[in-house]
Amino acid sequence: MLETTLSELESRAVSLIDGADNAEALENARVEFLGRKGSLANIGKEMGKLAPAERAQIGKLLNAVKQNLESRYEVRKSGFERAELDARLAAEWVDLTLPAPGTRPGSLHPLTQIQRELEELFTSLGFAVVDGPEVETEWHNFDALNIPPTHPARDAQDTFWLTDGHLLRTHTSPVQVRAMEKFGAPLRIIAPGRVFRNEEVDASHEHTFYQLEGMMIDRDVSVAHMLYFMKSLLTAIFKKDVTVRLRPGFFPFVEPGFELDIQCLICGGSGCPVCKQSGWVELLPCGLVHPNVLRSGGIDPEEWNGFAFGLGLTRLVMMRYAIDDIRHLAAGDLRFLQQF
Ligand code: PHE
Repeated sequence: MLETTLSELESRAVSLIDGADNAEALENARVEFLGRKGSLANIGKEMGKLAPAERAQIGKLLNAVKQNLESRYEVRKSGFERAELDARLAAEWVDLTLPAPGTRPGSLHPLTQIQRELEELFTSLGFAVVDGPEVETEWHNFDALNIPPTHPARDAQDTFWLTDGHLLRTHTSPVQVRAMEKFGAPLRIIAPGRVFRNEEVDASHEHTFYQLEGMMIDRDVSVAHMLYFMKSLLTAIFKKDVTVRLRPGFFPFVEPGFELDIQCLICGGSGCPVCKQSGWVELLPCGLVHPNVLRSGGIDPEEWNGFAFGLGLTRLVMMRYAIDDIRHLAAGDLRFLQQF
């Protein structure tokens, strides 16, 4: 009786194992016949009820069936594993003789982009782009700009002093002086560059940032001329109307001096960390050049006058791209930089 069951079971199992066309079907067959609760195990349990002689005979038969099925199973299993490996090797094959894919092209830093745009605008208006040293003399950074040693304005620009008495320029204004010394009047220059202040770093302050200085010296220059240039500049940058306000501002090197603020483009004026909840961002300090400064640069204030401005390039970039944390700009994170 058991003998027939067993041989039927064997032929069914053989056809399922040999005929399995994937690893899953094979595994199902293994569980059905060879598993701990599978058909062969069940027969094993029933054997206890048999007479000893019959039990020995069936036992032998059962073992033979089991071995047959197991070895077929192993053959099939290693066949599937082999096929899987072959498929992976074919898919992941790398041709080492091919040339490397090459480096991805980089992109210009947003500060560089905005700097170049402004250089283009101002050169079209007859301005020259000039450069100055980042390590400055006290004379160029302060004294020549009408900021004597005891002047409180020195405190407002926390300075990195070098041990030899030089300093890291706290603004691009010393380039005004260098340009006057070098070229005299009339003069139209811009000076983009890096400046340094010993400041606590937070979302809107960095110890290193960028300004763009501008200076125009000619005969009878007025605040109206200055405003014309400032408006051209803002229109070119933002490519739309921005709301501005002009406040009196004090800088020892200009008289009168102004603060040109723009309404915060990140929050639209409702208040955010960049505008310190005020809705306004100081963007463009400017004014008419103080006679003492012209004199420092070797220019006669009786004959010439002019305007100057100091644009916060870093802040401008943040406004333009709605960047809410100044620290992104110098962090070197490619995920940030590749967006530009
Ligand atoms: N140098 C000033 C600063 O960094 C800005 C400024 C430049 C103001 C030119 C007036 C004219 O704060």
